[in-house]
Amino acid sequence: MHRPASHRVIPRNVQFDTTIGHGNSWMGGDPVATAVFNALSLTFPDGERLFMDAVRHYRPQLSGQLAEDARAFIAQEAIHTREHVGLNAGLDRDRYPVDAIQQELQGRLQRLETYGPVAMLGVTIALEHFTAMMADLFLDDPRFWDGVPPEIVRLWQWHAMEETEHKAVAFDVFREISKGWSPLQRYRVRVQVMVVSTLLFSFNITRFAAKLLIADGVAPVRAHLRVLDYLFGRPGLFRRSWRAYWDWYRPGFHPWDHDNSDKLDSWRELFPAPQASGAAA
Ligand SMILES: [Fe+2]
Ligand SMILES: [Fe+2]
Repeated sequence: MHRPASHRVIPRNVQFDTTIGHGNSWMGGDPVATAVFNALSLTFPDGERLFMDAVRHYRPQLSGQLAEDARAFIAQEAIHTREHVGLNAGLDRDRYPVDAIQQELQGRLQRLETYGPVAMLGVTIALEHFTAMMADLFLDDPRFWDGVPPEIVRLWQWHAMEETEHKAVAFDVFREISKGWSPLQRYRVRVQVMVVSTLLFSFNITRFAAKLLIADGVAPVRAHLRVLDYLFGRPGLFRRSWRAYWDWYRPGFHPWDHDNSDKLDSWRELFPAPQASGAAA
């Protein structure tokens, strides 16, 4: 399946009061969940800059609806970045190694950029698969948000909704720029970028969340084990999406094979699209 015919990607210039909610263990009093979500939020601004750069590089080769979707994708990611920068600003830098985490991530992303635009787009489509899987979980399971300040819940839900809305845009850009490749070559690149991205993403989030927990006073080995349990045990933030994850390796896979457009429509009601221009950034 490809994108639903009537599907549109619409940036919404929503601003959140991110000064609320960065007290200790804002994820419902759970320090491990808090560390994992803080780690995710800390990786978003630089990660999303990579996604924007990767898609922007190919914009001159795009036309029609895909060109429009690419423009909207970049606008959405830019607004996500702005809001997560605001959210991350609330982290106590005297307590948490925020700058060290971001420098480590930036170093890895700079190395990735040296491999060129196809590698950047490849990692983008793989990581967009991860964000789409997590978005589906976040929007579907209200238990993630028990005890979380409502404004912060809204921020994550808005981000998850727009990640769902644009989940196939970078993928479709990849299909477009690789249309002259053989099916085997395209498949091989898709598999390679997913293997690399899975290792990097799992490693980064585990390592960064553990660093945050260690700053909370948890012993290093225990901090890593608790984060791994949150991701792969209970509640299993990564584990629970294993079916969608493995789907990626099916030849001919497309993100809209997992058609959650019905749910997307109800999630969109929480964040109405702008009326006038249709774009906010
Ligand atoms: Fe995003
Ligand atoms: Fe995204």
